[in-house]
Amino acid sequence: MLEHPLPSLRWGIIGTGLISSWFVEDLILDRPNKVANHIIQAIGGSSLQKAQVFFEKYPSGNNVSVYGSYKELYEDPNVDIVYIGTPHALHKTNCLDAIRAGKHVLCEKAFTLNSAEAEEVIAEAERQGVFVMEAMWTRFMPLVEKLRELLHQEKAIGDIHRASCDFSLPMDLSSFPSTSRLKNPALGAGSLLDIGIYSLTWVILAMETNFGHEQPKILASQVIRDEIDIATTAILTYSHGKQGVVTASLSTTSPSSFCRIEGAKGFVIVDGPAASMPQSFTVHVHNQEPVKYEFKAPGRGYYWEADAVALDISANKKGNSVMPLTETIRIMSLMDEIRRQGGAVFPIEETV
Ligand SMILES: NC(=O)c1ccc[n+]([C@@H]2O[C@H](COP(=O)([O-])OP(=O)(O)OC[C@H]3O[C@@H](n4cnc5c(N)ncnc54)[C@H](OP(=O)(O)O)[C@@H]3O)[C@@H](O)[C@H]2O)c1
Repeated sequence: MLEHPLPSLRWGIIGTGLISSWFVEDLILDRPNKVANHIIQAIGGSSLQKAQVFFEKYPSGNNVSVYGSYKELYEDPNVDIVYIGTPHALHKTNCLDAIRAGKHVLCEKAFTLNSAEAEEVIAEAERQGVFVMEAMWTRFMPLVEKLRELLHQEKAIGDIHRASCDFSLPMDLSSFPSTSRLKNPALGAGSLLDIGIYSLTWVILAMETNFGHEQPKILASQVIRDEIDIATTAILTYSHGKQGVVTASLSTTSPSSFCRIEGAKGFVIVDGPAASMPQSFTVHVHNQEPVKYEFKAPGRGYYWEADAVALDISANKKGNSVMPLTETIRIMSLMDEIRRQGGAVFPIEETV
């Protein structure tokens, strides 16, 4: 019997910073039970030298094209999909340029600066008939799938009443150059878009059986320093008195037990080095021994989202069901509201 070949995707990577290096390292990892082949076809940097240095540091094959501009990469007929690993404020333009060149797109979180930009990108992808997805990789982890099954199908802790999640990462912003994407408001810096988006995602994964079945009311506060939000707290209130608490800070450190989900019959604690990288969770049901679920895998785990993208594209889909485009727009609009109340404004929004 003939075996079906695995779907293959030829990736063009733009941006030669931290996340692009992690993504490339994971994609070329030799791992068991692969469901797709990932080929690094091209690297595009803002200069040829940066792209070359990146390629030499993270070697990804003999036939990789190395470009000193993103445009050349968009125009490469051998690239199927563009992975966007640039600062938040550039995502809209990078996405639109890649989409208009006929490429599929996987764009890092936060997808754009705000929901209006996200809608613009998604509408263009629909017009051009290409696949697009926000790279919220944590959603694709087997841990998250198992946790949601226990919470929402098996009702392991009964009705869920509250969830809280923290992602805090102390950053000595005064030591960063003003051009840093973590400091420069014009590049989309701030706790919410950079790390608070994970806290928001966990609360939504915990509280919502069907994403967006109900739009929670938001009460939010942010600490603004040097024009960026260095801390964010938001309370999401759902019907029947259910609440989610979302926190993020650039001044302090999250506990390894970064997320707590409370239900009528018990609670769940999720652990890991950060909210983006869960490694285990423990289910505590009243009057029973706690049960710990641990998840180990090679690399960091960016290949799960990449595999999902490859399977979707081979099935001619234009979006993904784990990170739906409607959900990307909703997350962006929830963050718009958090910033409206909290006070973080990006310079480009002040001129609109
Ligand atoms: N999924 C995750 O786990 C994860 C982790 C970290 C970050 N991220 C996301 O990934 C994106 C990039 O973050 P990062 O930490 O990789 O940033 P980074 O290390 O600063 O890299 C960003 C890259 O974007 C390019 N770029 C183009 N114009 C730029 C400009 N004006 N200023 C700075 N860089 C510019 C640069 O490469 P070239 O000049 O060569 O083009 C730069 O190396 C963000 O959306 C962030 O939220 C995701």
